Amino acid sequence: METTLLPAEALPDSERNGVYRAIFSRRDTRGEFLPDPVSDEVLSRLLMAAHHAPSVGFMQPWSFVIVRGEEPRRRVHDAFLAAHAEAALMFPEDKRDTYRSLKLEGIMEAPVNICVTCDRDRAGPVVIGRTHIRTMDLYSSVCAVQNLWLAARAEGLGLGWVSIFDNAVVQRALGIPDGIVPVAYLCVGKVRGYHPRPELEAAGWRPRLPIDQLVHFDRWGEQEADQGLLNRLRADQETLAGR
Ligand SMILES: Cc1cc2nc3c(=O)[nH]c(=O)nc-3n(C[C@H](O)[C@H](O)[C@H](O)COP(=O)(O)O)c2cc1C
Repeated sequence: METTLLPAEALPDSERNGVYRAIFSRRDTRGEFLPDPVSDEVLSRLLMAAHHAPSVGFMQPWSFVIVRGEEPRRRVHDAFLAAHAEAALMFPEDKRDTYRSLKLEGIMEAPVNICVTCDRDRAGPVVIGRTHIRTMDLYSSVCAVQNLWLAARAEGLGLGWVSIFDNAVVQRALGIPDGIVPVAYLCVGKVRGYHPRPELEAAGWRPRLPIDQLVHFDRWGEQEADQGLLNRLRADQETLAGR
């Protein structure tokens, strides 16, 4: 098959910078939602960005449940409250008060919630690329989530991923059939602003890890081989942290 390839050039500076800006300034948003509705025009762009994510075997296993109704949101929120209370007791005692003080969802405040799902049977039982690692379809739906998240940032919207609940309750609340997995429950909408750093970092829960300690060369545990790259990574992380 003859294919004419499109030019593989770097994007012009301003567009390239825009992509990185969206990546570095994207935040998980929970407490800053405004009630303003998200227009169909913008919502369509977000969903289209999600729908153009990579997927194993081009399976496109995702669907999107747009949740605006009070009743299903209330049920998901109740599921959150129950799981949140249980979760607090799972942390060491000295962390429980901090945990309880964190705002970890914006289900009722955000004007729209989106549940991204994964249909594990969408492309039949044998899927190119999923033959040996069954979870690749779930990862594909997560790729759709990340596209949506970055697109939301580009649109000046906030997005918060809520995962503290019994998934079966969310499945029932949204009428999602068996065999289709709710992968991500997202709260989306206009926000008062973005936190400059992850809220968990600012709250002293966990710091951003030094990237030079996360890179291995050729073999796990070999972390010194390329000092040039390591120095560059340290410098870039420092620059970003100082912004
Ligand atoms: C799979 C996944 C699940 C998450 N679940 C929650 C959640 O239930 N509640 C919450 O407040 N944040 C949740 N987050 C957001 C993370 O806490 C957040 O991404 C992280 O602290 C880094 O902050 P940032 O996204 O603002 O950079 C989740 C993120 C991911 C990727």
